Formats: sequence, C-alpha cells, structure tokens
Amino acid sequence: MAHTITHPPVRGKPAILFVCLGNICRSPLAEGAFRAEAARRGLDVAVDSAGTGAWHQGEAPDPRAQAVAISNGVDISRLRARQVVAQDFDRFDLILGMDDENMARLRQLAPTGARARLSLLLDHVPGHKGQSVADPWYGGLRDFELTWHEVSQAARALADVLTVERGGGPLQRL
Ligand code: 4NP
Repeated sequence: MAHTITHPPVRGKPAILFVCLGNICRSPLAEGAFRAEAARRGLDVAVDSAGTGAWHQGEAPDPRAQAVAISNGVDISRLRARQVVAQDFDRFDLILGMDDENMARLRQLAPTGARARLSLLLDHVPGHKGQSVADPWYGGLRDFELTWHEVSQAARALADVLTVERGGGPLQRL
C-alpha cells in the first residue's frame, strides 16, 4: 500500500508529543489544551499527539472529547489519530505518556540513544508526580471533564517552564 507518512525532524524549537493508548481521548485533549496555552503565551513550540495502539488510526477525536474541548473554547475536531513511530523518538524533545501502560510501551519502543526524554504527563504538575490521567473511554462526559481538567493543569505547568526558558534552549528543566 502506497501510504507513506514522513515525519521530518523538528529543529529549532521545543517539540512535545502527547501519547495515550488510542489517540482519540486523552492525548488529543492534552494536545489541544497545550496548543491553546502555548498560543495564549506566544510560545513557539512543535506539538503533536499519538497512540501506542493503531485501532483508531485516521479517526477524529472521540465526540465526547471534542465536546468537552469545544466547551472550553478549544476545537480539536481536525486532529486525526496516528500511532507512535520510531522517528518520534528523534523528532521530539519530550514524549509524555498519560499512564503507566503508555510509559511501559514507550520504553519498549524507544531506540537506544534517542533524543526524546520520556515522562508521565502529570509528573510535571506539582503534587501529582507519578499519577496517571485515567482513561475516560468507558466513562461519561464527567470523566472527560476530569481529563480536561488534568491535561489543562499539565499544559499550564509545561507552559510555565517554557515561558521561563523562552529562547534558552531545548527544555532543560522539563
Ligand atoms: P485514549 O482512550 O487512549 O485516551 O485515546 C482510549 C480510546 C480507545 C480505546 C481505549 C482507550 N479502545 O480500546 O479502543
């Protein structure tokens, strides 16, 4: 099948990849929240999201995720799910998993000597180190609202560090 997706290296600006299982619920919400926060602050960053699984490749975010995002002023409807690829570990400075299962899979996939550092998203939120963003897939809108709250906290914390570091090199403190 002639279906080649190329992922050119991101150079010259901090690059962050958000990763969950399906790339239709948590990581698109994290990407949307962080894109909005970065835009508010005028930060020049490269941002993407991906899933460790391929089941939803090419799909738009879950309608519940889209609804919660738009109710918070962020349109994620144009995002499309994709699976993590080996090149991501060289394109991104920081790859942020939503839960321990995502982290375990990312560690398996990471080539030795890769550029990217891996951490849990909520490791960057003071007081939430080691905690997971729960999977809302089997839940309801309330669960997606909790997801939005958690990824928004993380987006602000990440943007705080990048704001301090503006122009100061690639993510030294993240
Ligand atoms: P996500 O949620 O990892 O936050 O995108 C899920 C989406 C789909 C499935 C599981 C989790 N699924 O089993 O298809």
